[in-house]
Amino acid sequence: MKKTWWKEAVVYQIYTRSFKDTSGDGIGDLNGVTEKLNYLQSLGVDILWLCPMYKSPNVDNGYDVSDYREIMAEMGTMQDFDNMLAEIHSRGMKLILDLVLNHTSDQHPWFHESKSSKDNPKRDWYIWRDKPTNWESIFGGPAWTFDPKTNQYYLHLYTKNQVDLNWENPEVRRELYDMIIWWIEKGVDGFRVDAINHLKKDLTDMPNPEGKNYVPAWRKMTNVEGIQDFLKELRDETFAKYDVVTVGEANSIRAHELAEWISEDEGKFNMIFSLEAHENWNQDLDADHNVMTIKKILDRWQRSAQGIAWNSLYLENHDRPRTVSTWGDDRNYWRESATALACMYFFMQGTPFIYQGQEIGMTNVPFDDIKKYRDIETKNFYRYKRMQGVPHEELMEAIKKVSRDNARTPMQWHDGTNAGFTVGKPWIDLNPNYNWLNVEAQTVDDRSILSFYKKMIVLRKSRECLLYGSTKLAETDCPDVYAYIREYENTRILVVSHLDSDGCHWSLREKGQLLLANYTEFMEQKLQPYEARVYLLE
Ligand code: GLC
Repeated sequence: MKKTWWKEAVVYQIYTRSFKDTSGDGIGDLNGVTEKLNYLQSLGVDILWLCPMYKSPNVDNGYDVSDYREIMAEMGTMQDFDNMLAEIHSRGMKLILDLVLNHTSDQHPWFHESKSSKDNPKRDWYIWRDKPTNWESIFGGPAWTFDPKTNQYYLHLYTKNQVDLNWENPEVRRELYDMIIWWIEKGVDGFRVDAINHLKKDLTDMPNPEGKNYVPAWRKMTNVEGIQDFLKELRDETFAKYDVVTVGEANSIRAHELAEWISEDEGKFNMIFSLEAHENWNQDLDADHNVMTIKKILDRWQRSAQGIAWNSLYLENHDRPRTVSTWGDDRNYWRESATALACMYFFMQGTPFIYQGQEIGMTNVPFDDIKKYRDIETKNFYRYKRMQGVPHEELMEAIKKVSRDNARTPMQWHDGTNAGFTVGKPWIDLNPNYNWLNVEAQTVDDRSILSFYKKMIVLRKSRECLLYGSTKLAETDCPDVYAYIREYENTRILVVSHLDSDGCHWSLREKGQLLLANYTEFMEQKLQPYEARVYLLE
């Protein structure tokens, strides 16, 4: 496969709102990112992905843009942005932005115009109908909202404040392409493209045998026939003209479909994020079952991409709970399980992404009170389910496990006031465990999760085999051991991660030199709870 900078890079995702506040308003900002660049450089990451920092009323924390060419007031100014970008580049690092192209905020001037009258020139920039379809929105409730002024309904796949743009209209597409080019010309190095598989819709009713008010309509709004034409045009008119990296958020794509999305000949993006492994980890089942399932899924992605496409590798992001609390064991094996999971995903073929706080093993947050949650998806879920009569306790139990706020509590820098995130009142409560779980404590500890991440990054960069080698699952007797071999020219590297809290029989079947481990003492023919090792095979 072609060698390129973004294949050799490690990406760090910043949820800006929760990263570092310098203004004292309790909301993370761009100057906060600039302030922490030395930290990110010492971690060894190369590309920073910034969650949306555009002007926004923040109904969905920036995924509701009201001006694509302005910075959200809480996060700073365009000058702060330019300064941050220059500081990133002067360190040899790169910046990718989050592009929200499926919808805008209802506060965007385009929507103000569109809803002003039926014959406004921008009426057709959004999707208006006399009669709505029977779809449910992804965040609960109906997907259409009635506008009394013009007597029509508009479509919104997410909240009613995130209005779907009409991609069928060429003027809309042109305007978005111009905006993308404007950012590239400003110097950004690529994009994570939000909710990309919803651009095309099949605006017809879902079957509704149970006579529900609204019906989940995933297949009418996701990967609808014709979407590739939009994506191809988007690529050709923007990204393809520059040396930028793109990664599309394309949840429901499966490995056998990856060619038209990301192959080097016909792909529309360099990489996509698939959620398949995350969706199939069932927290009610045991580790054996889950590890076998994700092995099957991730192996399929590795094999399908072999020689034709590049994977994105990730454990966490701002929409998922913390993996040390879900896939791992944050009570009994916090350090071991965070590092074993890290070792498992980090050395496969693809570009690894680290979500802020993952590198120190941040955990889910135990908010007991629904009022502490800030996420609109969580709040809507609670509201609609309560309306349907689901008991409060049952909902709180589910929310604690899956709420997106689990990953959105402020970054834990040290054990002082508000973990060093802000001197003001944080927009969301901190996880109280910052008194012992923080960057400062882990920086000075050679056995910390943070130190392990640093070692992984150094190792990945020092071996071409870990970048460009093929990947093959390795046989093991234990179902909860995830082992694979990377092979390149004459080098073979074995990665073994035991993803359970029991002990299991395992021995190295060939001669090998240990390159990395998350334990310092080893047992004969045995892997300890959440033990992980990397060997250079002879
Ligand atoms: C993506 C984002 C998520 C957001 C949604 C709507 O899934 O990752 O945070 O709520 O799109 O833009």
